[in-house]
Amino acid sequence: MNPEDDPLAEWRSERLRRRIENFRARRPPMLQHKGVLNDDVAEWGSRLFDETARNLVITGDPGVAKTWNVWEVLERAVRAGYVGTILFATSAEWQEVVGPPPDFDRLRLMRNADVLVLDDLGSSRINEWQREKLLGVVDERWQHARPTVVTSNMDDFDAALGARLTSRLGDGATTVELEGNDWRAGR
Ligand SMILES: Nc1ncnc2c1ncn2[C@@H]1O[C@H](COP(=O)(O)OP(=O)(O)OP(=O)(O)O)[C@@H](O)[C@H]1O
Ligand SMILES: [Mg+2]
Repeated sequence: MNPEDDPLAEWRSERLRRRIENFRARRPPMLQHKGVLNDDVAEWGSRLFDETARNLVITGDPGVAKTWNVWEVLERAVRAGYVGTILFATSAEWQEVVGPPPDFDRLRLMRNADVLVLDDLGSSRINEWQREKLLGVVDERWQHARPTVVTSNMDDFDAALGARLTSRLGDGATTVELEGNDWRAGR
C-alpha cells in the first residue's frame, strides 16, 4: 500500500517515535555505548516478534557488556516495532520489589510483563525469602512462556538459586557466555 493511501501511517510512525523515545529515556547513559551485539543475543531478539523467544541467560565476568547487550537488543526490537511491555529490573530494583516487605504491585508487573529483565542475578547472595519471591515470578512467567532475561556473574546457578529456579530459567533458554576484557578498565 502506498503510504499516502494509509490514513493511519502518520499516527503509526508517531506512535513508534514515541515508543523509541520512551525506551531511550529509560536506557542508562553509561549503557548507551555503540558496540557490537552478540549474534546469539541478536537472534533471540528477532524471535520476540513471533513470540518464540524463551528465556535469555547471559553470563560472564564483570564489565564484558552483559547488561549492555540486553539494553541494545531490546532497543533494536523496539526500533523494529516490538510493542510488548518491557520491564528492566536492576539488582537494586528487584531486591527492593521482593522485599521484605514485598511490593505486591510491582511483583505483579514482573510476573506479567512481556519481557522481564532481572539484571545481575546472584550479584549478592540470594536468601530464602528472595528465592521464594523470585520463584513465584519466574514460575508464572515460565508457565505462560513469557521470556525472562537474566544477566549474571555466577558459574553455578544451581548452588546460588536452587534447582527449582534454575530449572525454570534454563528451560529452552538461549544461554550466552560473554568473554573478553572489562570494558570499564579500558577507559
Ligand atoms: N563495544 C563496546 N565498546 C566500548 N564500551 C562498551 C562496549 N560494549 C559495552 N561497553 C560499555 O562497557 C561498560 C560495561 O558493560 P556492562 O555494564 O554491560 O557490563 P556487565 O557485563 O553487565 O558487567 P557487570 O557484571 O559488572 O554488571 C558499559 O559502560 C558499556 O556501555
Ligand atoms: Mg551488568
